[in-house]
Amino acid sequence: MVRLTIFAILLLSLVSVCLSEDDSDEAVVTEEIDDVVPDEEIVYVSPTPSGNTYLAEHFDDEGRFKQKWIVSEAKKDDMDEEISKYEGMWAIEPPQQDGLKGDQGLVLKSKAKHSAISARLDRPFVFADKPFIVQYEVAFQEGQDCGGAYLKLLSQSKQSSDLRKFNDKTPYTIMFGPDKCGTDVKLHFIFRHKNPNNGTMSEKHCKKPKDRVEEPYKDKRPHLYTLHLRPDNSFTVFLDQKIINEGNLLEDFTPPVNPPAEIEDPSDKKPEDWDEREKIADPEAKKPDDWDEDAPPMIPDESAVKPDGWLEDEPEMIPDPNAEKPDDWDTDMDGEWEAPLISNPACEGAPGCGPWKRPMINNPAHKGKWRPPLIDNPNYKGKWKPRRIPNPDFYEDLQPFKMTPISGLGFELWSMSNMILFDNIIVTDDPAVADKWAAETFSLKIRKLDKDSEGVVMRLVHYTNEHPWLWAVYVIVIGLPIVMLIVFCCGSTPEKAEMKRAADAKKTDAITPDYEDEDVVDDSRPLHKTSPASKSDLELPHNAASNKADGEHVSDGEAEHIDEEEDEDDDDDEPPPLQESIAEGAGDAPRSPKKVRPRKE
Ligand SMILES: *[C@@H]1O[C@H](CO)[C@@H](O)[C@H](O)[C@H]1NC(C)=O
Repeated sequence: MVRLTIFAILLLSLVSVCLSEDDSDEAVVTEEIDDVVPDEEIVYVSPTPSGNTYLAEHFDDEGRFKQKWIVSEAKKDDMDEEISKYEGMWAIEPPQQDGLKGDQGLVLKSKAKHSAISARLDRPFVFADKPFIVQYEVAFQEGQDCGGAYLKLLSQSKQSSDLRKFNDKTPYTIMFGPDKCGTDVKLHFIFRHKNPNNGTMSEKHCKKPKDRVEEPYKDKRPHLYTLHLRPDNSFTVFLDQKIINEGNLLEDFTPPVNPPAEIEDPSDKKPEDWDEREKIADPEAKKPDDWDEDAPPMIPDESAVKPDGWLEDEPEMIPDPNAEKPDDWDTDMDGEWEAPLISNPACEGAPGCGPWKRPMINNPAHKGKWRPPLIDNPNYKGKWKPRRIPNPDFYEDLQPFKMTPISGLGFELWSMSNMILFDNIIVTDDPAVADKWAAETFSLKIRKLDKDSEGVVMRLVHYTNEHPWLWAVYVIVIGLPIVMLIVFCCGSTPEKAEMKRAADAKKTDAITPDYEDEDVVDDSRPLHKTSPASKSDLELPHNAASNKADGEHVSDGEAEHIDEEEDEDDDDDEPPPLQESIAEGAGDAPRSPKKVRPRKE
């Protein structure tokens, strides 16, 4: 319907005929859009968490933020003074894209700087018999080439007591969130596990998500990252509330939480007499007497005969008798002058010149080095493996869920793109609380963004209906370049038309019109009526249309009249083949205003 309207208006604007018929079409289009997208006011109120939370931060209240959040002043260990400082800037700002009224987020303002900010949980999260849920929003407002946006859930410890010193060595319990560099796209879920034997902490990395998710780094929209961890060691990772990874802490991490119960004994050595050879040379075998190891692989062909007329005494090359020593030849400097060699003309008629040699052939007596055949080794003991012993470092932790308690959270990042917006962080032990929080924040944001992008089209339609002359502007702004494109891209059709017409004439025996006729629409009319199935008939209007685009035939009143007449007969949903090929050239843009006369069957 929209295409029909645009098409009709495009056509009529060009011909400057009355608009009355199409006004009704426009109205229909607008009413339809209105029906689909009812006007709805999306009202945002800073959310209040509905249940048990350990931290819930919407960043809308800058005063509260300043009290709660601490920017790191730490220096990065073991690094050049220049870049080692955590000097990245953070700010509380509304989103760059039209956000919700009153909504703000935490924005990383610096690129290529170490940046860290953190906050204390309202009370520590202790892993016991309730799930652990963390959820937060990230919007890469300027895209992302290389850098992270992950969250660190800081372990309750002495090192994390002073958040001004938050740095990359500060112990964390969980690291969760997006990270990307070049084509390496990750969604981290790492936890630090305590070895129950000796208390050493080690990182356990979650298996990769099912899908490689790239949109969050490109589309500049907010995305919601959620991690659910349960006392039964199961976990689920959600992106935008869809599951993208799930599994179990005991099974889906590398290195595994629990070491193997048995290992190969490192002290076990292969015995000297261990025979690992599966096959050996047969000690009984002897070289046959007639085996000549020295027979050469190639011998001269004794049956060959020197061809008649071979000139043994003539060399193949001779010094050029016509060559002369150059005048500036300096024998002292350049050495004795010699004429360049040329092919000996005496050899031209002969089968060959110079000493004749027999051609070489394969020697049937050649056998090479004799080797005894292989037999099964009677002493073969199989591949040696060290014996397996119980792993001295073995332990079995069946509750890796019981991680180090979490006392704070923060971002410790380095990013090549700035303006990363973080929002609506929540830590809770109840999935329903996180869901409700998302419904009041993230979901509203997405609806607002979707509405705004639809709204642009709608506002344009409304405005244009009040100012119909704008359609003419669209025709020129959108239609003209498309027409030009078609003219330039498909401009070589005369040759194709010629070929098709020739081919068609052969098939149908139709009368072939003079090529020049195609330029003149009037002349084509009788032809159109008399030989409707001719291919040239289809090509004809295309050429005429192209010419019209150049302004040559706009005043051809009668031709326009024909076009219009046939408009009404046409079913626009099924354009004739040629018209489709024109539309193809213009992609999804409105169809070419040049109406193509359809083939009459
Ligand atoms: C603790 O044990 C692991 C092996 O289970 C070992 O790799 C690590 O070095 C040990 N740490 C200490 C401090 O002994």
